[in-house]
Amino acid sequence: MNTMTSLTIEIEKAKHSKISSVDFNNLDFGRVFTDHMLECDYKDGKWQNPKIVPYQPITLDPSAKIFHYGQSIFEGMKAYKDANDDIFLFRPIDNFKRLNISAKRLAMPELPEAFFMDGLKELLKLEKDWIPKSDGSALYIRPFMFASGSGFHASPADAYKFVIAFAPSGAYFSGKVKVLIEEKYSRSANGGVGFAKAGGNYAGQFYPTQLAKDKGYQQVIWTDDNSHEYIEEAGAMNIFVRINDTLMTVPTSDRILDGITRKSIISIAEDLGIDVDVRKIKVSELIEASENGSLKEIFGAGTAAVVSPISGFGYKGKDYQLPEIENTFGELLKKHITDIQTNKSEDKFGWRVKV
Ligand SMILES: Cc1ncc(COP(=O)(O)O)c(C=O)c1O
Repeated sequence: MNTMTSLTIEIEKAKHSKISSVDFNNLDFGRVFTDHMLECDYKDGKWQNPKIVPYQPITLDPSAKIFHYGQSIFEGMKAYKDANDDIFLFRPIDNFKRLNISAKRLAMPELPEAFFMDGLKELLKLEKDWIPKSDGSALYIRPFMFASGSGFHASPADAYKFVIAFAPSGAYFSGKVKVLIEEKYSRSANGGVGFAKAGGNYAGQFYPTQLAKDKGYQQVIWTDDNSHEYIEEAGAMNIFVRINDTLMTVPTSDRILDGITRKSIISIAEDLGIDVDVRKIKVSELIEASENGSLKEIFGAGTAAVVSPISGFGYKGKDYQLPEIENTFGELLKKHITDIQTNKSEDKFGWRVKV
């Protein structure tokens, strides 16, 4: 029971915990799940009380609209434990707000704040032993919502399910990745759902990404759907480019996810006195900067990896290598953001939320 609100969260505890079978020194990303999950159903025009239940499969009617019309949205966030075993979230209200932005665009019901925040905190308290403490590791949090209501009619469902599940995750070292700047496919379009964290956006990325992998690249840099002349995102991350000592990223739009890591990096960089330029970036500028030596870094930014450095990019059949430099902006900004997340530094921005 949460005393701050009238929200009652019923808890059904798992009979046995799986925690002793988990090797916390060899955690992959998103493959091991904790003992419990939070479930909340929307029916008869309102959200029912959330329940915490043992982690388990979800049974759906074959005509459930998630299967046919893809009403499915999610969030990705992390919980961190400091040296005193205190638990922290990073800008969780922003994830909550973004979930509802996605819900609205997909004609799904918005979730009240207490259902998200109180439900998440209650589940975290129950699963606190699952939050890894070693450097770089965290408890990955996956809130998601989908159309559970049934019927083959192509219209919004009348029932939905909101779930929060946890996956303890180890430090995410992807290494440097070689990327392909996309000239044909698009992950999103003007007026579309690119700004939403909708499942279908990711489904649409898999095929072009596989084609890039077949050519020896690990990821795709998405370009605008109209001209393919401007860079937009790096795989499932926002993109940053450093030319000389200016850090650049592209403005968010209909087509780009408003990443929480992206906006945190912008604030930290500005606070550190780094020159930050938020503007559209042409592929031709990257090529020119690469050729004249002013292109220093490109990196992706997102919750999972925080910062993911790029070693080089391919465009129109030619490869461009980024220089190996010391003291990168990417490493510096990653350290600043993770120190705030894990309660190792002062949180002058007020982003950390103690659970
Ligand atoms: C398409 C896309 N862009 C950017 C991001 C980064 O967003 P955030 O920093 O909020 O994790 C994500 C999620 O990680 C994403 O899926």
